[in-house]
Amino acid sequence: MSSFFTDDAGVGGIEDLMPRADAPVDGGSGAPVGAGGVLFGGTPPAGAVPDAGALAGTPPVGSVPPGPAPESAVPAGSPGGSLAPSGVNIVVIDPDPAARSRLKVQLGDRVADFGVVDELLPYLNGEPVVLILGPSCARDGSLAAVERLLQVRRELGAILVTEELTTALLQQALRAGVKDVLAAPPDDAQLAEAIRRVTQTLTAAPVTPMAADPVLEADGELAHVVTVFSTKGGAGKSVIAANLAVVLAERSEKPVCLVDADLQFGDIAVMLKLSPQHTIVDAVSSLDRLDPSLLHSLLITHEPSGLLVLPAPLEPAFADQIGAAEMVQIIEVLRRFCSFVVVDTPAYFNDVVLGMIEISDDVLLVAGMDIPNIKNVKIGLQTLRLLNTQMEKLHLVLNRANSKVKLDVSEVERTLQVSADALIPSDIVVPQAVNRGVPVVHSAARSGVAKALQGLADMFAPVGAEGGKKKKRK
Ligand SMILES: Nc1ncnc2c1ncn2[C@@H]1O[C@H](COP(=O)(O)OP(=O)(O)OP(=O)(O)O)[C@@H](O)[C@H]1O
Ligand SMILES: [Mg+2]
Repeated sequence: MSSFFTDDAGVGGIEDLMPRADAPVDGGSGAPVGAGGVLFGGTPPAGAVPDAGALAGTPPVGSVPPGPAPESAVPAGSPGGSLAPSGVNIVVIDPDPAARSRLKVQLGDRVADFGVVDELLPYLNGEPVVLILGPSCARDGSLAAVERLLQVRRELGAILVTEELTTALLQQALRAGVKDVLAAPPDDAQLAEAIRRVTQTLTAAPVTPMAADPVLEADGELAHVVTVFSTKGGAGKSVIAANLAVVLAERSEKPVCLVDADLQFGDIAVMLKLSPQHTIVDAVSSLDRLDPSLLHSLLITHEPSGLLVLPAPLEPAFADQIGAAEMVQIIEVLRRFCSFVVVDTPAYFNDVVLGMIEISDDVLLVAGMDIPNIKNVKIGLQTLRLLNTQMEKLHLVLNRANSKVKLDVSEVERTLQVSADALIPSDIVVPQAVNRGVPVVHSAARSGVAKALQGLADMFAPVGAEGGKKKKRK
């Protein structure tokens, strides 16, 4: 019998859709408490602290001169030595801690390590860094993230160490910008020579993170913020927010970010099958130094669409620490480098929701097609009027609008005294997609519900006549 959990999405079961057990817990982030050091002189986010062992052997960054590093490598095996030329920063990347530590031991002193390459971003200060990508990087899709980073960070060079050196992998690595590929385990001389050659190709970047990073380059245009809200639980907010954000990401040149502001029970990460390393909690604990570069490093990418996601805390208890002011500040930073910010919310009014509604350009008010939904949405509308919310930015989205529930759309519109801007049909493909952790606009792209969600995205970014990946505003 076929199952949602064993199909082509590669989902192994319900466990696979849950946040990973090995994912860091907020407040601890899996990082050594108190390590707090700075790898290359950058300002790390709270919770993004590299391996404690690495810090112990890492000199303060200011000690590394900019520009190409000297050629003289410390001979392999020399006491307390390193395979790296002096003055060169070496970073090992591998999701597998055992593989990381094997490479670190071989490389010697002055080596830091991270599970994924994005964790390195906050520490970069323009100095040349050689990345040694461990064997798991060839298997788990890390090369895509490495490619993105190498495209915008000329001071980085990468060497891949792999257990299976195939032509296909070699091609894939070279296309990703990796400069050398070595069979695992490499011998000391091979590794030292590869590091020396890669180091010669690197040049220091200017220490202006915003200007040096085209991905985050400010063009002065602020993102359009869309909050998805309902006064009824289960109305379809998260499904609508996730799919709208995915479609917008695919239509926008600049980044699009989905923020899960359902701080207690947010399930965006599960719906998109993401295993976040960081959440809103990390952004809040770095607020005093939060800039686009740092915030970008805390976001997780939904690889199929390129959507950036700022997930809700992994523990409901952390919700209490986050108020409207903090959330507004985070959205304002996202606005500086995104084209759209989509915010998912809980099913009740609280400070955070009111703050999000206040700063949003548009608010999608989601209502299901039953009497309790309509009653609650009517109360919600009245509350928003009392709070002097600009009514022009509210848009009614009727979800499950084709259900044979003896309520028709015009009746609902009359009751709410608002006409619906979008009608999303009810379809079994929606819960199927949710259970696979795939947005329905991908899993059933031709279904009526996917088309309706694409139509909803047209309100903000209509597909151009050329149909290209172009950012358009309404
Ligand atoms: N158009 C639809 N057709 C069929 N099922 C749907 C549709 N929209 C949503 N659902 C189902 O309803 C469930 C609840 O949707 P969703 O989680 O998006 O609601 P929510 O408003 O975010 O809920 P909560 O208030 O708990 O956060 C989903 O798991 C999905 O299976
Ligand atoms: Mg929800």
